[in-house]
Amino acid sequence: MSGPAIDSGSCPSGGLFGRISFRALAMIATAGTIAATTAVLTRVNEQQIREVIEQGAESNLLLEARNLAVLTGDVLLGEFPELILVPLVKDLQKGRPELVQILVLDRGGRIVGGPEPRQIGELHRSSEALEPLVSRVLLNPGETFAGTQEILQVRTPIQHNTEGEIGSVLVSLDRGRIHDSIRATRGAMVRSSAVLLALAVALVMIVITVLFRPVDVVRRGLRRIGEGDLDTPIKVRGPSELTGLVETLNEMTEQLKASRRTIKAREDETVATQREVIITLGEVVESRSHETANHTRRVGAMSAELALLAGLPAEDVELLRMAAPVHDIGKIGIRDDILNKPGELTPTEFEVMKTHAEIGHQILSGSDRPILRAAAIIAFEHHERWDGSGYPRGLMREEINIFGRIVSLVDVFDALHSNRIYRSALPLPEILDRLRSERRRSFDPRLVDIFLAHKDRFLTICEEIGDGRRLVELREGSLKTVSRLDVVHR
Ligand SMILES: [Fe+2]
Ligand SMILES: [Fe+2]
Repeated sequence: MSGPAIDSGSCPSGGLFGRISFRALAMIATAGTIAATTAVLTRVNEQQIREVIEQGAESNLLLEARNLAVLTGDVLLGEFPELILVPLVKDLQKGRPELVQILVLDRGGRIVGGPEPRQIGELHRSSEALEPLVSRVLLNPGETFAGTQEILQVRTPIQHNTEGEIGSVLVSLDRGRIHDSIRATRGAMVRSSAVLLALAVALVMIVITVLFRPVDVVRRGLRRIGEGDLDTPIKVRGPSELTGLVETLNEMTEQLKASRRTIKAREDETVATQREVIITLGEVVESRSHETANHTRRVGAMSAELALLAGLPAEDVELLRMAAPVHDIGKIGIRDDILNKPGELTPTEFEVMKTHAEIGHQILSGSDRPILRAAAIIAFEHHERWDGSGYPRGLMREEINIFGRIVSLVDVFDALHSNRIYRSALPLPEILDRLRSERRRSFDPRLVDIFLAHKDRFLTICEEIGDGRRLVELREGSLKTVSRLDVVHR
């Protein structure tokens, strides 16, 4: 039975999914989901962080300005406030590159405090580029908030308890510094997100590998079953869905085993029946041609033995065992007076006798069954000879099927070794001499060598399957020594 090969965990559907395993698919899907989620979260966080940083920067700026306004309240009313305010502003700006400008102005708008002494006394002019901005932080009365793309500026009034507004503080911030800070924060976020993503993907891969382990076990089990091993049940620990499936699979395997046993038993029975039928057929011919009892069985057994010794596959050995007994089935088409003639046949009679090979072939060649096909070959070729002098086709050497060559040798041996209507059995040394002398003439020399090297095995078979019953009585006076093999066994 053929079926789709079980792939290593592949999705059974075709196309792209047919080539990607479930595991890879699950990993890609999970990694994709994590990456997308991380990207969205990073984006959301970035927006929030940008707002928080900007709001924090504005708050700080305002705080700086308000603190300075409080600090300078009394100083501004004293003499030479710049003597205090210049160092104070310098000190405030120290290490604070983002604070690009801190100025303290008097009521008239003149600079009384700043980082540069030369500015002191000058009238401060607001930059025309500055535009009023809406602050994210709540402003006090009198406070203004303005800026450009690069600068953010807060103006906060300096209030005095009795004098009211006596001046103002201007603090400007480099917006680029805020953006730098955002960029740095975003970079750190992306880096940490990448590390988290890598860790998550690694974790998912480990989890998926662990989850898929039972699936691998099932896959290997199925492959074993596919290769014909029905004796090893699949054992798996995992989710109940999987163990349930495996239980069903194991039950199916058991049923398959039982079916296989039944089929095997039926096959054995069929083969045994075929063998019996064939042997019975051979015996019918045997009895009609007054052959010795069990000749056909011995030819079957000895052909199988010789085939085994010659190294033929076990299947062919069994085919020979079953098919060789009907080698002479064509004799049912030969007239009784020729078939059972006690003496030597006339040339004309012999020509008639020779037709049994072809008749046998015709009887058996109508089937595709291996046994009958082998039997047809044997019936057709068991009188062919190694040197080409045989019949019906005069085949030579390896042109003759190995089945024909084997049965030819064994058939003659058994004929010489048994009593026949027209002669008695020959002594063993004489039979062996005959076989030797027919090496390369009648028989395949290699088969003769094998036969002679293991002659005891064949003699044992002859003993085991002896002439249990006599089909004909040997007629006194009709026994004579014959020299031609076609007379020995025709
Ligand atoms: Fe024959
Ligand atoms: Fe025979």
